[in-house]
Amino acid sequence: MKIRKAIITVAGFGTRFLPATKAQPKAMLPLVDKPIVQYLVEEAVKAGIEQIIFVTGKGKRAIEDHFDSHFELEYLLEQKGKEEVLGQVRDIADMAEFFFVRQRYARGNGDAVLATRSFIGDEPCAVLFEDDIVASDIPAIGQLIEVYNKYQDPVIALTRVPHSEVSKYGIIEGAQINDRLVEINQFVEKPKPEETKSNLAVIGKYIITPAIFDKLEQMKVSVEGELGLDHAFIELLKTNPLYGYEIEGKRYDCGDKLGYIQAVIDFGLQHPEIGNGVSDHIKNIKL
Ligand code: G1P
Repeated sequence: MKIRKAIITVAGFGTRFLPATKAQPKAMLPLVDKPIVQYLVEEAVKAGIEQIIFVTGKGKRAIEDHFDSHFELEYLLEQKGKEEVLGQVRDIADMAEFFFVRQRYARGNGDAVLATRSFIGDEPCAVLFEDDIVASDIPAIGQLIEVYNKYQDPVIALTRVPHSEVSKYGIIEGAQINDRLVEINQFVEKPKPEETKSNLAVIGKYIITPAIFDKLEQMKVSVEGELGLDHAFIELLKTNPLYGYEIEGKRYDCGDKLGYIQAVIDFGLQHPEIGNGVSDHIKNIKL
């Protein structure tokens, strides 16, 4: 079945960015002139996604406004003859069909995904977490869709990380099918470095099937009060094949201050309007 729908989770509190995220969604922090969440939508749309459901929560209304029309602003830009930016502003609401569901309690990313079940129905779909941005020619989620189309089983995005950092990620082990593709046989969420030899880390991009929703529905919340998507994968792995794909492209952890600044610098360097200025600025920095 063709993958037409994507879930984008944007309900996180963004505690690592406080106080910047006290009153604004983390996903609305800009990478130059577009908010993080717009890059995720563009990634999904470029990969053929037609309908996007955001899992939101308290204080996330700016995301709804961003993907809606803004009559007054459009009128003003039109009056001033600012055609280019007018086009950019208008196009946002037409990129896909947008839907919103609220996650009532902060009960983890599995709970967020589960909140979309009635909307997703009996289809495979893409999942994008708000923190992970990948700069690549072929959109990262599109790379996963290609694998799904071949194997018809869930697919998880992977990247290699320094072994000292494995405890920040889901870590997988498996049988290498080709350079980038792995059939997963073990998934451990945030292991200590001494608990795994692998450095293949999960990035927050997945293709899931209805079987994942079934697992999430059967699971109980952890002692931390959370329902983790990782647990659903671990459960599914007992009976089902699961694939991992080492993403082509540069990944930025935009949920982290350093990762975010790196993304701002790199996206700034590539920006047609300010790229040269950013480059000159960097050359002139005296460390
Ligand atoms: C989540 C996942 C983890 C994954 C990470 C990638 O963790 O549970 O498996 O490696 O996203 O960003 P979080 O960073 O939300 O704690």
